[in-house]
Amino acid sequence: MAELVPAGIAGIGHFVPEQVIDNEWFTKTLDTSDEWIQQRTGIVERRWLRDDEKPCDMFVGAGKMAMEDAGVNPEDIDMIVIGTVSGDYTAPSAACIVQARLGLPKCGAFDVAAACSGFMYALAVGSQFIETGRYKNVLVIGGDAMSRMIDKQDRSTVVLFGDGAGAVVLQPHATCKQGLIEDIHIGADGEGAKYIIRPRGGAGDPMTHEILDERSHYITMEGRPVYRFAASKMIWLLDWAMQGQDPDKLGWMIPHQMNRRILEQATSHLGIPPEKVLHNISKYGNTSSGSVPILMSEGYHKGLYEKDTYLVLGAFGCGLTWAGARILW
Ligand SMILES: CC(C)(COP(=O)(O)OP(=O)(O)OC[C@H]1O[C@@H](n2cnc3c(N)ncnc32)[C@H](O)[C@@H]1OP(=O)(O)O)[C@@H](O)C(=O)NCCC(=O)NCCS
Repeated sequence: MAELVPAGIAGIGHFVPEQVIDNEWFTKTLDTSDEWIQQRTGIVERRWLRDDEKPCDMFVGAGKMAMEDAGVNPEDIDMIVIGTVSGDYTAPSAACIVQARLGLPKCGAFDVAAACSGFMYALAVGSQFIETGRYKNVLVIGGDAMSRMIDKQDRSTVVLFGDGAGAVVLQPHATCKQGLIEDIHIGADGEGAKYIIRPRGGAGDPMTHEILDERSHYITMEGRPVYRFAASKMIWLLDWAMQGQDPDKLGWMIPHQMNRRILEQATSHLGIPPEKVLHNISKYGNTSSGSVPILMSEGYHKGLYEKDTYLVLGAFGCGLTWAGARILW
């Protein structure tokens, strides 16, 4: 077997819609309050696409920024993979729409469906194509338009989610000399599918007027079990990522932004100083697959990452799915 080609991160970008929805906005129609939302989740506001905007607008914006940052042209890209469960269409994939809009060559283009873990799953897939030596530039995007999948009348889910996307360009590490992807883990437990689900309206139970009336095509969630799952997986993942590594080399934790309380509990349990944990949940809420790459992009463009330190990425979500990565900057 040929030797593996270590993969690196050559460029990073992100895109969030302009429209800001603050917590007060929900109090016009729902029995909720800014205080409840902030206390239970840490969310102050989130971004939602306007009616005339589409999810692929965000994927294109994030992809463009990552390509510019990496200094690559559209014709350099060998493959595009998008982690999303909310493309513009059920079919074709978002990746095909974005490939055409970015003017990429007629390269492989496909989506990976792993909900909030989508970007990390897509990163795992994309990095394999670099590591085998097959490709030199892979565009990996993660993002979701959760505002298009939640029930605006359900106070227990609607306040949690936002829209957004992030992206990276992967290259052989020898070329880009930064962001060495040392290890990636992906996992899932399909027994937990019922905890976050769009119960009806999929191909297993196609859309009817009855489904629309009962609103069962929107996401439903059992908050408590999901909370417990995310908290325990977060602890497990951080442990996994730094096992056998020098703890002083931990630069930044970049966790999925689902709930500020979960993040604080997990990091304090592990004794990780809060100043090593990036977060932006107060501004964007939970953007599903967009969460980790947006956070990673913001930290990178603020110049926070130091050479020879680790970034630890972790995501959890619907499926149930989870994923982690250790990146040597
Ligand atoms: C959703 C979540 C914030 C709820 O917080 P919680 O402390 O677990 O609260 P509970 O579910 O016990 O609900 C407490 C009460 O608040 C109510 N409530 C729910 N949403 C509310 C809102 N937006 N405003 C006011 N009250 C609300 C509930 O109806 C419940 O009322 P009840 O006791 O009369 O039944 C929390 O469970 C959570 O974050 N879970 C993980 C969700 C997640 O991250 N999902 C995505 C995974 S990627």
